[in-house]
Amino acid sequence: MMLELRKLSVNDGMDVYQMLQDIPLDENGFQNNVNGLSYEEYKSWLVKKAQEPELDGIVDGWKVPSTTYWLYADGVPVGFGKLRHCLTDALRKAGGHIGYGIAPQYRGKGYGKELLRLLIGEAYNRGIDKVLVTIRLDNKPSQAVALANGGVITEQTDERLLIWIDTKQV
Ligand SMILES: CC(C)(COP(=O)(O)OP(=O)(O)OC[C@H]1O[C@@H](n2cnc3c(N)ncnc32)[C@H](O)[C@@H]1OP(=O)(O)O)[C@@H](O)C(=O)NCCC(=O)NCCS
Repeated sequence: MMLELRKLSVNDGMDVYQMLQDIPLDENGFQNNVNGLSYEEYKSWLVKKAQEPELDGIVDGWKVPSTTYWLYADGVPVGFGKLRHCLTDALRKAGGHIGYGIAPQYRGKGYGKELLRLLIGEAYNRGIDKVLVTIRLDNKPSQAVALANGGVITEQTDERLLIWIDTKQV
């Protein structure tokens, strides 16, 4: 099985579009704004999204520069993740550096763990020493994914576990 991350691009096509129709709009706080869009709307969304890594400044206290990646398994997109390049006070409480999701039909095969592992590698390449993931208390699959990647629970709020991962060890 060949797994790879591909950075979002304005040239992304139907395979990614179809995968994004399978992932819910919002699941445990992980958002997929393409669910329900037309193909043309998705192509415009890609143009906007492709600019996010170069976003200037912080918007609304939590919109920071970020990069979106698709996870491909043997050439088929099965999920996606987002890496924020920095944190704000708000993101330290909820949001963190990394979000990830796997299309429902591909879950339970280890892809979630691999997706997070590859995203941690991208964070390391950007010079981020430690990444934060914030996971809702009832989201056991995501907690399992973070802990399998060396995550350390540092705090529990009313809603979430805050889990830090040292990017050098992954
Ligand atoms: C979280 C998510 C990415 C996991 O993807 P996945 O491909 O199924 O993950 P994996 O197959 O690598 O691992 C899933 C782990 O969760 C565990 N798990 C699944 N359901 C579980 C449950 N109800 N209780 C406890 N653990 C559970 C599995 O046993 C596995 O751990 P194990 O290998 O140690 O047994 C996927 O469920 C998803 O996309 N969820 C919706 C979006 C989301 O919640 N994103 C995270 C936001 S913080």
